[in-house]
Amino acid sequence: MARVLVARRLPDGGLDPLAAHELIGPKPGDVPFTSAELRDHAGEVDAIVSVLTDKIDADVLTAGAGGRLRVVANVAVGYDNIDVAAAAAHGIVVCNTPGVLDETTADLAFTLILAASRVVHDAEADLRAGEWHGWGITQYLGQDVHGATLGIVGYGRIGRAVARRAAGFGMQVLHHARTDTGEPGYVADLDQLLATSDIVSLHVPGGDATRHLLDARRLAFMKPTAVLVNTARGSVVDEEALAEALISNRLFAAGLDVFEREPEVHPRLLTAPRTVLLPHIGSASQATRTRMARLAASAVATVLGGGTPPNVVPS
Ligand code: DGY
Repeated sequence: MARVLVARRLPDGGLDPLAAHELIGPKPGDVPFTSAELRDHAGEVDAIVSVLTDKIDADVLTAGAGGRLRVVANVAVGYDNIDVAAAAAHGIVVCNTPGVLDETTADLAFTLILAASRVVHDAEADLRAGEWHGWGITQYLGQDVHGATLGIVGYGRIGRAVARRAAGFGMQVLHHARTDTGEPGYVADLDQLLATSDIVSLHVPGGDATRHLLDARRLAFMKPTAVLVNTARGSVVDEEALAEALISNRLFAAGLDVFEREPEVHPRLLTAPRTVLLPHIGSASQATRTRMARLAASAVATVLGGGTPPNVVPS
């Protein structure tokens, strides 16, 4: 029987594929393991089931390699919390959960597209605070979503799922990706896509290659009427530059589900106008989070059984 460290509580049924193994964790009260605890446990287990807030860095992986660690499965499609190069150097397999959260995350991206464009948060906040004193023809004027040009940055599974939804709203859809997709709407130059789009939705992975992809210079290309939506990773956007653009009315609105230093949110974003902020709930439906947990757990079971799961992260 193998030993599997389960770093956080997972949805009911999510760990069923690991029923034959000894599970360690989660900690009482679902308190996260500290880095030192992860390191200590890594040396004593065959596998780790992690979530995106668990930092599986080179120290943890080295400790694991000194023991019998064979696989780390992240219950997320993103894996910027794991040092994949260090894992590969130690022969430790890393798995993620692609494919099972695309539609749910695209639903949330579209929620933010609609909510930010139509200044839903500011309007609701006023109403709840007793600051709405009657209907007014110039109140809470947003931007139309139907018929707008949507620029999708990163055209993987989730970006494409957002594009499908946009078709129903009669939007013109453009997309940018590092390599030419050869598909209609491809824009090779990101700056051009930003300048042309009414709404921009980000769907690139996190990590060094995309850090502050949307910096002050690129944000300045966007129309003053434009809306930026980020359900990818907070690190993709320079939050200070974004807050400045919103506060100075150089950008119309933003809808953000992810932040660079979660759970901290840049203080200027908290007070920026026309900004919808959510606590990283892109994949948070009961069915999807259960599917994610089961996919990660199945990958661990497969590796422990000597096989190769389909969801191994390329190193
Ligand atoms: C992921 O899977 O990377 C998402 O951010 C989780 O919601």
